Amino acid sequence: MERPRRLRSPLLRPLVAEVELSPKHLILPLFVKEGGEMEEVSSMPGVFRHPLSGLPRVAEEALKAGLGGVILFGVLPQEAKDPMGKGAYAEDGVVQRAIGLLKREFPELLVLADTCLCEYTDHGHCGVVKEGPRGFYVDNDATLDLLAKTALSQAQAGADVVAPSAMMDGQVRAIREALDRGGFAHVPILSYAVKYASAFYGPFREAAQSAPGFGDRSGYQMDPRAGLWDALREAALDDLEGADMLMVKPALPYLDVLSALKGRFAKPLFAYQVSGEYAMLKAAALKGWLDERRAVLESLFALRRAGAQGILTYYALEAARWLKEA
Ligand code: PBG
Ligand code: ZN
Repeated sequence: MERPRRLRSPLLRPLVAEVELSPKHLILPLFVKEGGEMEEVSSMPGVFRHPLSGLPRVAEEALKAGLGGVILFGVLPQEAKDPMGKGAYAEDGVVQRAIGLLKREFPELLVLADTCLCEYTDHGHCGVVKEGPRGFYVDNDATLDLLAKTALSQAQAGADVVAPSAMMDGQVRAIREALDRGGFAHVPILSYAVKYASAFYGPFREAAQSAPGFGDRSGYQMDPRAGLWDALREAALDDLEGADMLMVKPALPYLDVLSALKGRFAKPLFAYQVSGEYAMLKAAALKGWLDERRAVLESLFALRRAGAQGILTYYALEAARWLKEA
């Protein structure tokens, strides 16, 4: 009789396990603001908005934990935002300053910068908003220049990787050209290539105070109901435009997409376990309804199994600790 259980004894299980997960596969997202106290995000217990002065402590923790890196998101007060998102590409912008500070004090920490405008625009959209015959819309081509400027300023500040997330057509090419022309041909692009218009970004928008003031992002982010063709098309375009790494976002609801992309492009694949995924796990854990450690590690194993090389997750530090204990 076929008995799969023969391989499930304590000594054999580790031998036949294929999935490996280490802290180096995990990237920690960080919300950075100029000054003030560190504040907890109410829909993400355990996640904070950090003032610049609080970054060194977190960076040290990330390094000690052996994480793959950190990715930075800027948080601005409403009065510092404007229609063109100038804060995103200001030389002394909060993310630019954060990058400078981190790379000066912790050169061995990999620092990624999220490249988008929504945290810096007063309307909260990821691009330039214009009024047309059918109301307001986000102007794709007018946004490309601003995204390119943002990525260039992040590279100038010392970012190791730029990660465009605005879902504008042609953004990877625009950014690649700007980096190459600006003397940063060596700076790689991690593209949020396959990014769905998702309810699971809700807590992030509270954290970054970046919810769109009107409408939603479905005119540029992907429809969750679209067939696999849309994911393949978006990934193929960013591949052609010069992305160095490709990402799928959110993660767990889109395991099928991740697995379909695996091996199709000669580039590493990443998954972003987004704020809403964190909130679901954390809320259930706080209620005592889930064993947090097991549920989180199981989710991360699933992402690795489906094809993710690296995972962006708010659980990075906790997961690293759990992996060490294991
Ligand atoms: C910026 C950006 C967002 C996220 C990453 N980069 C927000 C959005 O697109 O609305 C979401 C991350 C998360 O939910 O954890 N465009
Ligand atoms: Zn955005």
